[in-house]
Amino acid sequence: MTLRHFGWFLGAGFGVQGWGDPTYGIGYDWKQPTIYQDAARLFERSGLDALIIEDGVAVPDTYRGTAEVNLAAARFVPKHDPIPLVPYLLGATERIGIVPTLSASFTEPYTAARLLATLQHFAHGRLGYNVVTSGSDLAAQNYGLEKQTEHDLRYDRADEWVEVVKALWRSWEPGAVLEDTERGVYADFTKVHRIDHEGRFFRVRGPLNALPPAEEPVMVQAGASGRGRTFAGRHADVILALASTPERMKAHRDDIRAVAAEQGRDPDALTVLFVVNPIPTANAEDTAAVRARRSELTQAAIDEQLQSISYLTNLDFARFDLDAPLPEVATNSNQGTLDNFVRSAPAGSTLREILAARAKADGLAVIGTPAEIADALGTLGEASGADGFLFTGQVHPAHVHRTLDPLVPALRDAGLLRRELGDGGLRANLADF
Ligand SMILES: Cc1cc2nc3c(=O)[nH]c(=O)nc-3n(C[C@H](O)[C@H](O)[C@H](O)COP(=O)(O)O)c2cc1C
Repeated sequence: MTLRHFGWFLGAGFGVQGWGDPTYGIGYDWKQPTIYQDAARLFERSGLDALIIEDGVAVPDTYRGTAEVNLAAARFVPKHDPIPLVPYLLGATERIGIVPTLSASFTEPYTAARLLATLQHFAHGRLGYNVVTSGSDLAAQNYGLEKQTEHDLRYDRADEWVEVVKALWRSWEPGAVLEDTERGVYADFTKVHRIDHEGRFFRVRGPLNALPPAEEPVMVQAGASGRGRTFAGRHADVILALASTPERMKAHRDDIRAVAAEQGRDPDALTVLFVVNPIPTANAEDTAAVRARRSELTQAAIDEQLQSISYLTNLDFARFDLDAPLPEVATNSNQGTLDNFVRSAPAGSTLREILAARAKADGLAVIGTPAEIADALGTLGEASGADGFLFTGQVHPAHVHRTLDPLVPALRDAGLLRRELGDGGLRANLADF
């Protein structure tokens, strides 16, 4: 089989890990770096290219108009800022890429360029950044807006944001730093330039006052709507994507690659990773039991699905009758995510049927013995052309060990997972195959 790239998407962000697991709180405090450092070391030993850390900036209270479900289940809240965690993760590891999320909507490009430049110096080429446009109205209300800017306009703004960030990194020409102690010249002023950017959304003078990194951090992006894909295909090095069938994966990847080619980029320079949730089992009986348990539509399972889709779309799904066909819905937030949700069941399905279909098919779950999972991912990779897969979940030790301890040897035996990461940084590791 062909080698694929693998990564871990920490969907809970720098937030509560392992809530609900019987081992919650034993030996670890999620507010301290240790649990993330231990997980990052395990990911590195396992040969995963990167750890990507989700982020968001609101306490979700869209579902039923209250934060009750989210606070009780510790879903999306509380959440600390992932940026200060990054140096701890870099310090604990040597080769794996570390990728915090950064909002192009709520971070000034100068701040972002400076922050990422600083971190990349620590990282020696291991830094990435997941650029999001933050669709949540709740988040927008924390930054002085009444509601979030119109969907496509957010991406127009993000286009300009990327342009400014990169211009700032390039405001120091290569060779600008002389460190000439004899002449007493640290840097050559003729090689450090203002950018004088005056655009539709930003005015930035430059140059950057931080020293730009030798290698620009790897840009990661997950836009899924038409406009989102255009943004991702134009700028991103790594694309994160959700799709539940090989056909949809292939279509998504082909589409993004076509956008990149239209922009004069080499589509092979893009790494398209699809999110999967592998659940290793001991045998067929165990697989059947796990499937049955996960497809049970309990009230807690309904709440879990509805709080999430409500938050991600700014729509309170409690307003919809569970047993009536889901009316036509549209969002200014994560359009690709809503589209995926609605298309989980045939048109005209009730909300309950959609939830049941999602629970049963369990979209991203790959359940089976380690060898079966390796086989399934190999087949999925061949059929879709996926450059790799992103495992998802919290980094509570019970979860990461339950997943990776059995799976890593199986993936390696199948020739899908590399045995060792190179030491040239994230970009170099991604370019290995
Ligand atoms: C794997 C993955 C990770 C994502 N991580 C974040 C995140 O950390 N923060 C965030 O605000 N949005 C996140 N998103 C949302 C995307 O940035 C994007 O808004 C979403 O995929 C929908 O795309 P669209 O806005 O083009 O419809 C993520 C999406 C995916 C698929």
